[in-house]
Amino acid sequence: MFYKSVWIVLLITAIPFWADAQDRKLSPIEDLGRQIYFDKSLSDPPGQSCASCHDPAAGWIGEISEINAHAAVYPGAVEARSGNRKPPTAAYATFSPVFHYDATDQLFVGGNFQDGRATGWLLGNPTAEQAQGPFLNPVEQNLKNAERVVELVCQADYGKLFRSIYGQDICNNTINAYNAIAQAIAAFEASAEINAFSSKYDYYLKDSQKYPLNKQELLGLQLFNDESKGNCAACHPSQPDTDGSPPLFTDFTYDNLGTPKNPENTWYGMPKEINPDGDKWIDPGLAGFLKTVPRFAKYANENRGKHKVPTLRNVDKRPNPEFAKSYGHNGAFKSLKEIVHFYNIRDRLPKCENTAKPKPGENCWPAPEVAENVNKDELGDLGLTEEEEWALVAFMKTLSDDWTPPTQ
Ligand code: HEC
Ligand code: HEC
Repeated sequence: MFYKSVWIVLLITAIPFWADAQDRKLSPIEDLGRQIYFDKSLSDPPGQSCASCHDPAAGWIGEISEINAHAAVYPGAVEARSGNRKPPTAAYATFSPVFHYDATDQLFVGGNFQDGRATGWLLGNPTAEQAQGPFLNPVEQNLKNAERVVELVCQADYGKLFRSIYGQDICNNTINAYNAIAQAIAAFEASAEINAFSSKYDYYLKDSQKYPLNKQELLGLQLFNDESKGNCAACHPSQPDTDGSPPLFTDFTYDNLGTPKNPENTWYGMPKEINPDGDKWIDPGLAGFLKTVPRFAKYANENRGKHKVPTLRNVDKRPNPEFAKSYGHNGAFKSLKEIVHFYNIRDRLPKCENTAKPKPGENCWPAPEVAENVNKDELGDLGLTEEEEWALVAFMKTLSDDWTPPTQ
């Protein structure tokens, strides 16, 4: 019950209804959060902000095309160190409910991060808890402690705004100040600037006569929803909720698609003190977090290799057509077409002998990173034609925010 009520409060505060999406005026707390989000002096050495790994122009993922094309994981402020997963989009993350076990469906739901470990149990808000991580993470912004973050925020130009919102004494109490910083960032992340709901598809949902999808996009949408075809909406819901709120393209549950390793992930080469497993490292996904929670540890094995279903909003958004993006928690898939093809024929091809990559001319898929718990019921052999694969890609391209209707 506790989770449900928190979720409702979050939804009420977080949903910027479509009509407001054009009105991006931020409240003082959202504006404060925005300034912190883009501040490159909040890292050691300075130079890295949240936006470095969650850039609006790239659909709120990493800003460097070259990295997206290969390693997909990002170096931190100390460049020789990198994380182990691809930055997911920071947009629409505030809609994820507080992490919980759904006893009826017998699955885990919600939280932030790809393994849900920013649960929302402490602050009632997964995204606020998430926002406390990067500043102190040695493979991200690398500041030495919360005191240092608070000191920098209090000295910044927006320090005055910070005090005016949270009280003149806020800077004297590190714990309260650090929580306030996180809440401000989360408020910005819940704002209509990040969650814009302004894609071509949103316009289409609002008025399909005035803003029609083209033939290929419509075919894609139909395949996306059709349980006996793409079946994508089973995990990436595409229809407005009963209360009319726009679809989020994720149900915030966890699944193992059988995503292969990304052999270019630079985490494999990190020094022992950062990654003790070296190139033998396997991403446990949700299980890694469940193991740390005594009451959930018994569920760890059945959740090995599962990752949070990502939203597909902005999945194709990029600053220019040449800008590379990759897909899956580790960026193993190099294009939308490639991941759709994987969904379509995963179970029809033999596993490659060379687990990392198909050899030239070899018709196979690399082995899954985690072979247990692979979802074989809902995907893997969809029987789609080449044309249908492209239609799904075309539909996903209608999910980029900041779409401008053609002038008649
Ligand atoms: C060096 C790159 C980097 C920086 C800097 C960074 N992030 Fe992230 N972010 C990531 C990665 C990688 C993940 C996924 C980690 C995981 O799942 O274990 C992530 C996850 C997230 C998520 C979770 C999204 C979801 O759907 O669960 C949010 C929200 C987010 N970051 C916001 C921020 C904010 C706010 C900041 C600044 C305070 C920030 N990030 C700084 C790389 C970065
Ligand atoms: C059983 C649930 C499920 C179904 C069905 C499903 N997906 Fe996914 N999808 C996921 C999960 C989980 C991930 C993350 C996988 C990972 O990180 O390894 C994902 C990732 C993706 C991504 C990568 C997004 C990113 O930002 O990296 C795309 C694109 C995608 N799905 C599209 C589709 C399409 C198109 C279909 C239908 C053909 C589909 N999905 C069907 C659960 C599902």
